[in-house]
Amino acid sequence: MNAQIWIVDFGSQYTQLIARIYRELGFKSEILTIDQSFELLKKTKPELLILSGSPQSVFEDSTDYSLYFSSDIPVLGLCYGMQLMAQHFGGVVNKGIIGEYGKSKIRDLNNTFNIGEKFIAWMSHSDHVAVCPDNFEVFLKSENNLIAGIKHQNQNFWGLQFHPEVIHTVKGKEILLHFVEEIGLEENWKNEEIYETCIREVENIGDEFVLCAFSGGVDSLVAASIAHKKLGDKLYCFFVDHGLLRPQDYKHIELLKRESYLNIETIDAKETFLNKLAGISDPEKKRKIIGTTFIEVFDQKVKEFERTKNIKFTYLLQGTLYPDIIESHSPHKKGGKSVTIKSHHNVGGLPEKMNLKLLEPLKSLFKDEVRRIGTFLDLDKSWLYRHPFPGPGLGIRILGAIDAIKIEQVQKSDQILLEELVRSEYYNKCWQSLTVHIPQKTVGVKGDARAYEEVICVRIVGSRDGMTATWSHVPYEVLDKISSRITNEVSGITRVVYDITSKPPGTIEWE
Ligand code: XMP
Repeated sequence: MNAQIWIVDFGSQYTQLIARIYRELGFKSEILTIDQSFELLKKTKPELLILSGSPQSVFEDSTDYSLYFSSDIPVLGLCYGMQLMAQHFGGVVNKGIIGEYGKSKIRDLNNTFNIGEKFIAWMSHSDHVAVCPDNFEVFLKSENNLIAGIKHQNQNFWGLQFHPEVIHTVKGKEILLHFVEEIGLEENWKNEEIYETCIREVENIGDEFVLCAFSGGVDSLVAASIAHKKLGDKLYCFFVDHGLLRPQDYKHIELLKRESYLNIETIDAKETFLNKLAGISDPEKKRKIIGTTFIEVFDQKVKEFERTKNIKFTYLLQGTLYPDIIESHSPHKKGGKSVTIKSHHNVGGLPEKMNLKLLEPLKSLFKDEVRRIGTFLDLDKSWLYRHPFPGPGLGIRILGAIDAIKIEQVQKSDQILLEELVRSEYYNKCWQSLTVHIPQKTVGVKGDARAYEEVICVRIVGSRDGMTATWSHVPYEVLDKISSRITNEVSGITRVVYDITSKPPGTIEWE
């Protein structure tokens, strides 16, 4: 362990963001489970220890954390981490009645951060520190006058109730930098190391045949391009057509077949997927069915290659990113505390059932870091800056049961959305755009006749990494054009709505 900064993961959705911001600032940081941190602290110590947020409440946690506070290690507690610290030193944490979620204005009472008297921060908590412990002082307050930051009067112990690691905390990076400056840490990390680590991961597997689950999106494209450098023709990319794709996906895969150096084969599995999904409306069930059907389809391919070409695949390459893992389950196999938000289709169990080992060189990274690696690999910018598209595709953009008519409605409305965002030059200004089919009939009038038809929701968001997002303030004229084209050109749709929910509390996809 040669990281200067250790981040103890209490299960926050944002833990990895802390690590990546410190990486960007030039400091090597490592995420640890509670058990790992206890073990390591017996032998060595970091230069800064960070205690993350958590979905749990301190009232449910009876672990003794005195090891964190018993030596001269500087400690920064974030959200739950601050509450643990306050409790440990005799402060009082109150159970939340009303929470503070989303943006909040924070008053910096002594201008500690030098970023102005007030700043915007991202909150996500209901419990709060009601009484500051002895020998600590309150240096930040929220607009509701709750304690938002505490610090020890003569030791390096700090607590923040908000999340400086989240992009929506304005100047969050400066805030995190403040603490390393306070203790005089010296930079020891270069961003190119991320790229080199990914390359090493592929180099370590030896000379084997690798099957890549290839969607053509940014993540699988970058993962495959890295692997191709080492494996060349031993890498086979399979694009599964599950029938839940958009016109732009079919076009893009054909373009990649022509213009990239990858060996890409399309597997037509439309019938298999759509038959299995018929009549299923529960979102988690749909995700699980899509996930297991991917396994079956790849499994058949593995057997076919063994039988017909005498090629035996040993690895399955996936473009899994950190947010896919954190939202599906805890990233630490043992001792993790995060909760499942939704099961991302590419996570969990694939190779165990298929007898393949898993190769996921991007699994500790975020999308924007992956895009940066893509530029090191000289991949076309338009390929790298496509909006993300989830593995289960339109399966999670058609609420409830899926059928051919709804698929076509989402395909057509998505194509209109794409065309209008590209035409207005708004496509590259937002992070993701999508249309969702809402199976609710509403009354309308088309021509002179009454219409009683369903709804399409348009969602356009800004984000840095998909972990948090805000709805985009797209000009009214653009929204107007999108809406009128959808109601005119997509049969069965009379109403278009625009989603103005941030993440949290909403996720980007609707299911
Ligand atoms: P949510 O909806 O969780 O999505 O806010 C965050 C980002 O992840 C994408 N997403 C997925 N990607 N498999 C994927 O490959 C999935 O199962 C999946 N679910 C969500 C989503 O489109 C957004 O960019």
